[in-house]
Amino acid sequence: MINIALPKGRLGEKVYDLFEKAGYDCPSIKENSRKLIFENAEKGVRFFWVKPSDVAIYVARGAADLGVAGKDILLEYRPDVYELLDLQMGKCSMAVAAKKDFYDDTERTLKVATKFVRIAKEYYAKKGREIDVIELHGSIELAPILNLSDVIVDSVETGATLRENDLVVVEKFLPISARMIANKASFCFNTEKVEEIVKKIGEILKNGESL
Ligand code: PRP
Repeated sequence: MINIALPKGRLGEKVYDLFEKAGYDCPSIKENSRKLIFENAEKGVRFFWVKPSDVAIYVARGAADLGVAGKDILLEYRPDVYELLDLQMGKCSMAVAAKKDFYDDTERTLKVATKFVRIAKEYYAKKGREIDVIELHGSIELAPILNLSDVIVDSVETGATLRENDLVVVEKFLPISARMIANKASFCFNTEKVEEIVKKIGEILKNGESL
């Protein structure tokens, strides 16, 4: 049985459709229920719905053999997993954003609010810019509006959240997409099975069937 951690939400549903097209279906997952685990013994797969930012933890610790996590989470937390495939879904960018009238006074330490502390630190370290990082866990856009920070470092998909809060992108600096990841030990034990899954899903992506 291959255990697969899917990110709960719209992206996870799209990822499940990909598995289904690849022949690893588990129809009960589409029934509206509060269940979190779904299994198709015949196909040898078991899916779990996991909070997106927790997928890498399940995979790194071996509670799941495979999972799907955003490149942002992988860069931020550096889980000890194999990254097998770019699923070309859940595309967005990591960006710096600020109020429209933001002016970067390089004489001052820049206050940066973010969920992605490591990514923000690395980005500004490369620029040689001194920053004060304020770690938040959601609704990051509030920080510059309430003068908690000068800028934010956050993921931007449609840009709607920034627009509706009168913020603008200062710089998009990192393209993000969902990646299939594998537990390292389990990959060694189940190489054939996992590679077959990856190959079938890769073919579907190549043919653009999922788009
Ligand atoms: C993410 C991100 C932005 C928003 C960007 O938040 O932190 O707030 O999506 O998407 P958009 O460009 O399409 O508007 P998420 O939905 O994960 O919620 P959070 O604020 O609780 O982190």
